[in-house]
Amino acid sequence: MEQRMLVGVTVDNAVAVLRIANPPVNALSAALRSAIADAVQQAAADSGIRAIVLAASGRTFVAGADISEFGKPPVSPTLPEVVELLDACPKPLVAAINGAALGGGLELAMACHERVATSGAKLGLPEVKLGLLPGAGGTQRLPRLAGAATAVAMVVSGEPVTAEDALRHGIVDEAVEGDPVPAALRRALALADGLAAPTRVRDRGDRLGPREAFEAAAARALQRVPGNPAAAACTDSIRAAFELPFDAAVRAERDRFLVLVKDDRSKALRHVFFAERAVAHVPGLPKGTRGREVARAAVIGAGTMGGGIAMCFANAGIPVTLIETEQQALERGLQRIAGNYATSVQRGSLAAEERNRRLGRIEGRIGLEHAAGADLVVEAVFEDLALKQQIFGTLDSIAKPGAVLATNTSYLDVDAIAGATRRPEAVLGMHFFSPANVMKLLEVVRGAGTAPGTLATAIELGRRLGKVPVVVGVCHGFVGNRMLARRTAQAERLLLEGASPQAVDAALVAFGFRMGPFAMADLAGLDIGWRIRKATGKTAPVADALCEAGRLGQKTGKGYYDYGGGGRQGAPDPAVQALIEAASARLGIARRSIDADEITERLIFPMIDEGARILEEGIAARPGDIDVVWLHGYNWPAWRGGPMFHGEQLGAARIAQRLEQHAAHSGDASLHPSAALSRLAREGQGFSSLSEAAA
Ligand code: 3HC
Ligand code: NAI
Repeated sequence: MEQRMLVGVTVDNAVAVLRIANPPVNALSAALRSAIADAVQQAAADSGIRAIVLAASGRTFVAGADISEFGKPPVSPTLPEVVELLDACPKPLVAAINGAALGGGLELAMACHERVATSGAKLGLPEVKLGLLPGAGGTQRLPRLAGAATAVAMVVSGEPVTAEDALRHGIVDEAVEGDPVPAALRRALALADGLAAPTRVRDRGDRLGPREAFEAAAARALQRVPGNPAAAACTDSIRAAFELPFDAAVRAERDRFLVLVKDDRSKALRHVFFAERAVAHVPGLPKGTRGREVARAAVIGAGTMGGGIAMCFANAGIPVTLIETEQQALERGLQRIAGNYATSVQRGSLAAEERNRRLGRIEGRIGLEHAAGADLVVEAVFEDLALKQQIFGTLDSIAKPGAVLATNTSYLDVDAIAGATRRPEAVLGMHFFSPANVMKLLEVVRGAGTAPGTLATAIELGRRLGKVPVVVGVCHGFVGNRMLARRTAQAERLLLEGASPQAVDAALVAFGFRMGPFAMADLAGLDIGWRIRKATGKTAPVADALCEAGRLGQKTGKGYYDYGGGGRQGAPDPAVQALIEAASARLGIARRSIDADEITERLIFPMIDEGARILEEGIAARPGDIDVVWLHGYNWPAWRGGPMFHGEQLGAARIAQRLEQHAAHSGDASLHPSAALSRLAREGQGFSSLSEAAA
């Protein structure tokens, strides 16, 4: 019964049209695989059927294997078995590709004799992005259609091509406007009538192209994805097209797939795939809540963040008013924006006309009254509660009824800011990350009084700006910066106990970050944190001493490192070492040698501990939401899944135990595990149990 629903069969002119229907994206679940196999076998056995068209309904053709089944025991028929069945079909078989044909979806289509794709369809083998390689013949059939050089570029990058490019590469035989089924029917009949010969893709070795062209393309493709273990497996597998008979090469591909699918790095990337989609489901936001249309925006403050945020609006086609208190600051901000666009034009990543269109959407003004016409206002002035309250009080009296009033505050209490208005339902945080026009994370901070429609507006707008919006609750630093603070504190403390800046940075780079905390601080400028510490009465002995010595990072040529020649790669500096040792002595901290494992654990585990507290307090809805924050706001290495995924893999018990040991050994009481983490450790529970309890 269910099978009939998953693949509908109609007959047209003695051609069986098998239409896959497994919403939302026709992923190849076990039930669907079985339904496809049955339908193909029945059509093949039916003497009234001369040919078969494999089509699909909905917005995609087939989005590939069902990723949620990976890691579970395989269920027959497996995807390679279904592909084999199509390949061996005695009747002409044509795929009608109505939308995305990705991974196993393209592999199905390539096992047919011919392919017709609708214009606008995307075709690709994105498995590498999940730490995998195409495991159902993709590495053997794609090179036999497109040539091995084109195939290796597509498989190693994982990037899809358009139907038009697919036609040019020979991956499809025809591209049509609209429904591809009529053209597929025509082709199927022509094959059945013997007007064209049905050729199996496996037999098209003539299209592979020269081996040297493949090797050169493989080397280029690999250079673009350094360190991705699946990428090398992809090239090796395609290379087998030159070295092994088809069936042996397909078996070798399958063996490689089965190894990779068990690898923790692939598990992490699959987790990321689902976590990125899960953040779209916001607990407590009634399904179908629609946001307000944002036709015009205003940004208050043309500093580092305000300028970047204004660019986000302009890039997305939304006119924006950028507001300052005085002309000089406004000019500076506008010049910085123009400079950023000029760099993109110079690099060739932005056309001059498009730059002009974007600049034309940004209007600079002096005075808050210019926010009156905006559907949404983002405030990005200095991090000062009284100032922000004053601004929100004024906005309340001038903004349009129903306008959304957002603050970009990094740490401040969004409810206290909303309290300065008579419309707390319209207020929330939209926390962008620096540089705002580049980083994809948007923390959407839901205040106590934020209305569902306001939240929906911010989320929809965030997506329109190309961001990944993650809804978080109100607390000091929200999710990202609150966890970062634990890491920053440990980084400083490790220096005082005996580690060098370069040893701390090297540990995080070895973990997979692009940069360690000190190289990062030098890049961002040490004065930002210094100003915040002074304002909040906090100290950081090493960082403060560097700032007092005028070492503010790359911009002053010196920070934790010495940038002597003005380059971006700093050198260790004996003066910094002396300054750190003096600070240790002043504080009476005995210095010792600290190994890389201790450094890594003391940087990462307190963050996971803080994540547990964040989940217990309901500040983040799911462990995966925290992971998405770290992936897109702080460049956490995707193949490690995110801090909470990493924590889950190690287990709360191990993390709690190591934190206790580090606390005892270092004398740093802040390392003791939180009540939340300790409870998980005791009860053997996972991090998601904390969010279930919070909900
Ligand atoms: N398996 C399981 N679920 C999938 C899925 C898949 N392959 N692809 C998408 N989904 C789910 C998503 O999780 C989401 O679920 P939700 O509604 O519960 O959150 C839902 O389908 C809709 O997905 P999107 O939000 O991503 O929808 P879009 O319309 O934005 O994008 C898409 C559609 C371009 C098809 C995109 O979903 C996509 O890129 N999918 C994955 C493609 C992929 O990686 N395929 C390769 C799989 S591996 C493989 O085939 C191995 C083989 O070689 C053996
Ligand atoms: P900044 O100092 O670069 O810019 C602030 C701007 O606001 C200045 O140009 C100033 O002239 C202007 N301003 C001050 N009062 C104003 C008023 N009454 N009306 C209009 N403009 C006014 O500061 P930055 O770094 O852009 O930070 C702004 C906000 O964004 C802060 O709340 C900060 O915490 C937050 N933030 C900062 C990040 C960063 O990395 N710099 C990252 C994310 C958030």
